[in-house]
Amino acid sequence: MSIEKYYTLGKTGLKVSRLALGTMTFGKEWGWGNEKEAAQQIFDYYLDHGGNFVDTADMYTGGTSEEFIGDFMQSRNNREDIVLASKFTFNTSSSNAINSGGNSRKNIRRTLEESLKRLKTDYIDLYILHCWDKLTPVEEVMRTLNDLVSEGKILHVGLSNVPAWYASRAQMLAEANGYEPISALQLEYSLIQRTIEHEYIDLGQYTNAGIMAWSPLGGGLLSGKYKPGIDDQEDVEGRLKHITDNGGEVSSKDNKRNWNIVKTLQEVSEEINQPMASVALNWTANQPNVASVLVGATKMKQIEENMKALNFEIPADLMQKLNEASAPQAANPYTFFQPKMQERIYPDNKVGHKPPHYWKSVDIG
Ligand SMILES: NC(=O)c1ccc[n+]([C@@H]2O[C@H](COP(=O)([O-])OP(=O)(O)OC[C@H]3O[C@@H](n4cnc5c(N)ncnc54)[C@H](OP(=O)(O)O)[C@@H]3O)[C@@H](O)[C@H]2O)c1
Repeated sequence: MSIEKYYTLGKTGLKVSRLALGTMTFGKEWGWGNEKEAAQQIFDYYLDHGGNFVDTADMYTGGTSEEFIGDFMQSRNNREDIVLASKFTFNTSSSNAINSGGNSRKNIRRTLEESLKRLKTDYIDLYILHCWDKLTPVEEVMRTLNDLVSEGKILHVGLSNVPAWYASRAQMLAEANGYEPISALQLEYSLIQRTIEHEYIDLGQYTNAGIMAWSPLGGGLLSGKYKPGIDDQEDVEGRLKHITDNGGEVSSKDNKRNWNIVKTLQEVSEEINQPMASVALNWTANQPNVASVLVGATKMKQIEENMKALNFEIPADLMQKLNEASAPQAANPYTFFQPKMQERIYPDNKVGHKPPHYWKSVDIG
């Protein structure tokens, strides 16, 4: 499997590469991104090496990410070659008004117009709800998105960071009403973050929505450059240092479980002579029902390395070693769906649980 092999997005005819380009690092506003010129080099490298799927959001770097992408597409005159994904939900208006955040019809329409302006295009290929707002009826969201498809302003629909029941209900509404279905579920998935396995892998499979994995390197942890005690580590530069300095999420990543996973990853990477980041990306890409993996980079060396992540196979025994080291904790009631309990329903293992694959290789290159 290489980057030049394309797949259909969910149950659509849209062909996308398995590695999508994450652009949350386009712009310096959040303290750990890139200036424009460096971002453009990463963008160009990605496209020149077989990628066609670019992901952004209205709120990334305060809108700069979308602006850069708009400028880059204009300078390359290649809008039609790109499958462009963007997102809405977070409050992005300067007034911070009550209706300028969330998934209401009013806010979706407002924020889409602003994204289109920044992106200098008149449509978005995949428009993604960024986060459940716990308030707007899913009926309002799905109808609004379908209207936007009818108007030609968006082509396809995705969900990110929503409860599985919500996504399932959204998809049922789409099916029942002939709306544009959910084609992608954008969720955090990596060797250090496997909780989506409890619900979302099956959800994607049964609802024909492909998983788009975000933060496949755990924000850089799985590249192997950090050591326990990230806060005190002076010889390394990277996002997790900045997030530490800002008092953010890193403390939750700097823990014994994760360092054990990093150690196993290092052993596997040495055994097959591939960079740790590539092995971590390859692991995520090869999990059941993962359609695309979002690669992020702040340096050319990183994007060069990451774009090669599908060029090799991790042998089965080493895949097993990684799986075991990173296995998510069994959680109730999911323990009931594991083989040990299912054997009490289907004695002697007479029934296999193998739903059909939902995405098809279209083998166009
Ligand atoms: N839907 C959502 O809620 C959501 C949330 C987060 C992200 N996303 C999307 O997913 C994309 C990827 O997320 P992410 O940036 O968190 O992914 P990630 O792969 O976990 O982290 C990427 C970061 O790791 C470091 N890195 C990457 N490759 C490396 C290499 N080969 N060697 C050493 N360090 C390396 C770089 O940061 P440093 O150079 O700073 O170390 C890079 O920016 C985002 O751009 C965005 O499009 C979506």
